Amino acid sequence: MSDDNLPVKYSAEAGTLPPERVQAMFDRIARPYDAMNRVMTGGLDVRWRRLAAEATEVGAGASVLDCCCGTADLTLELAKRVGPSGEVVGLDFADRMLDRGRLKIAKHGVDQATLIHGDALDLPFEDDRFAAATVAFGIRNVADLGLGFRELVRVVRPGGKVVCLEITTPESGVVSKFHSLWFDRLVPGVGRLVDKGNAAYTYLPASVKRFPGTTSLAHVMYEAGLEDVRFRTLGGGIVALHVGTVRRSAA
Ligand SMILES: C[S@@+](CC[C@H](N)C(=O)[O-])C[C@H]1O[C@@H](n2cnc3c(N)ncnc32)[C@H](O)[C@@H]1O
Repeated sequence: MSDDNLPVKYSAEAGTLPPERVQAMFDRIARPYDAMNRVMTGGLDVRWRRLAAEATEVGAGASVLDCCCGTADLTLELAKRVGPSGEVVGLDFADRMLDRGRLKIAKHGVDQATLIHGDALDLPFEDDRFAAATVAFGIRNVADLGLGFRELVRVVRPGGKVVCLEITTPESGVVSKFHSLWFDRLVPGVGRLVDKGNAAYTYLPASVKRFPGTTSLAHVMYEAGLEDVRFRTLGGGIVALHVGTVRRSAA
């Protein structure tokens, strides 16, 4: 489908695409996806995912959901934490991303991690199924941010953590200049190389620009049913790690 045929509310330039276009875009870029991440972050993304896994505060034997798991890098970090007696379920709707993730899981011989196809906005799990849930660089792409968090809250037991790792826009100074150089020049350049003539190079930077800032995102998480929502910025302010605790309902 060409952009001309899309409903008016969607446009790659505005950082919005219908779910089937998001899915198709990630399927197209699945092969170079990990290498792109390493190049665009100078390898820092590996540490950021480790911090996200730590923020779940789960230990051996726990059951965790990694939503929008993509090629399973965070899924694997979580699998280390929960150990062989635990369970990590990675969920994503882009099958080519899942294929890459499954290869990695097999290579690492991690039996406690399973990847499934599914929609973040309609999670195929019963209420309170998991001890914690994560979403890394994924929630920015879902069509309904509030619903995305409500679904994560629904499937995590009261008292469990919901962790969100996402690109953010720094508010001031040198980092803000670097960020604009990175997103307005480097990311579109890399996107153009790996997704020739398609949406990735315009969609990715635009989707970051339209995404709420750190405080607004914390508010969305609170509204979705999380309490004690905290965040810290990483990479000099280009990425934010938000953590909230699923509220226990009043007795
Ligand atoms: C930027 S990648 C992040 C992958 C991985 N979490 C990471 O840290 O590298 C975003 C992923 O979100 C997935 N995604 C976006 N919207 C989704 C939805 N509604 N349901 C399931 N997966 C979704 C995409 O298919 C893609 O694999």
